[in-house]
Amino acid sequence: MFGLGKSKSVVGLDIGSSAVKAVELKAVGKGFKVVAFAIEPVPPDSIVDGAIIDGAAVADAIRRVFENKAFKTKEVAASLSGNAVIVKKINLPVMTEAELAESIYWEAEQYIPFDIQDVNLDYQILNAGTGAESEGTMDVLLVAAKKEKIADYTGVISQAGRLPVIVDVDAFALQNAYETNYQLEPDAVVVLLNAGASAININIVTGDQSVFTRDISMGGNSYTEAVQKELNLPYESAEQIKRGEPVDGVTFEEVQPVLHAMTENVLLEIQKTFDFFKATAASDRIDRIVVSGGASRVDGFTASLQERFNTPVEVFDPFKTITFDPVKLGITDPEGLSVTAAVAVGLALRRTGDR
Ligand SMILES: Nc1ncnc2c1ncn2[C@@H]1O[C@H](COP(=O)(O)OP(=O)(O)OP(=O)(O)O)[C@@H](O)[C@H]1O
Ligand SMILES: [Mg+2]
Repeated sequence: MFGLGKSKSVVGLDIGSSAVKAVELKAVGKGFKVVAFAIEPVPPDSIVDGAIIDGAAVADAIRRVFENKAFKTKEVAASLSGNAVIVKKINLPVMTEAELAESIYWEAEQYIPFDIQDVNLDYQILNAGTGAESEGTMDVLLVAAKKEKIADYTGVISQAGRLPVIVDVDAFALQNAYETNYQLEPDAVVVLLNAGASAININIVTGDQSVFTRDISMGGNSYTEAVQKELNLPYESAEQIKRGEPVDGVTFEEVQPVLHAMTENVLLEIQKTFDFFKATAASDRIDRIVVSGGASRVDGFTASLQERFNTPVEVFDPFKTITFDPVKLGITDPEGLSVTAAVAVGLALRRTGDR
């Protein structure tokens, strides 16, 4: 997406609102191995709803990530999410790639709420009008990002002394990591759910096609804020006890009901998303939910998800088929880290020159 240049490997750099995650992979045989992995915290409110507010703080976190000398590549693939990007499935008359390339800006104008001059567009033909109902038409996945937002992200990367070569979208990076690690089932409807600090990215896929995406503006921060408010704690303490780490003067038993109540709110939003998907998509079932992101580790979250939707829930392992040696890489909490690494892995799998 929005790439330039020729094919080379890149560092996958997930600039999250709570932490920057970076992964570098190396091709070995038919697969990959992790050669470098780093994570550095981002100060609260430096990134809000996908917009970089404090560029210097974000650039600083990126710089710290690359103090890890195991990273060899200067080229970086990053991603956008939230308000920074619009993803829409549109239906167009069947046409060739060349015709589409020529008309896409004109077509997109009706669907994008910004001046078309201000956005970068990308697109992918999803089904070229094969089904009986869709005869003569084809579905096209349209992705638009404001040039200004792309420039903010590439700007902090440059400030940190790195070379931004690809700007992707969180939800698609997640899908990319999934495709490399899991056997694709052509008919199964799989929900990829990445619960971060400020947003939950949902990408519903069938085989290798994304059939629905949405970002929900809730996440780990919602939990921390609820704990802060209900138990009258400072941010840092609320953040710690939320993760089950000991904090003076509070027990985890006091915190649990607050977390579970917030999960109820989150489930309501997820429910709305699923209802909307079922109402608009060709399928009305969901076969599996695969969760990632730090907030998916909130006490009872996966169990509640499974129970509410009566659907198997699995924790995303972005290193399922990728060789990952935490000891060699100096990583002490591989389980906690890998669940937050899915987007970075998906980005690291991109090649310069990719679209
Ligand atoms: N063990 C844990 N229990 C509960 N929450 C956790 C745990 N570990 C991490 N988190 C929460 O996960 C969030 C960070 O996850 P992640 O790194 O996926 O987010 P991010 O990519 O920085 O955010 P976003 O994508 O929304 O910008 C934080 O809110 C953090 O408090
Ligand atoms: Mg994230």
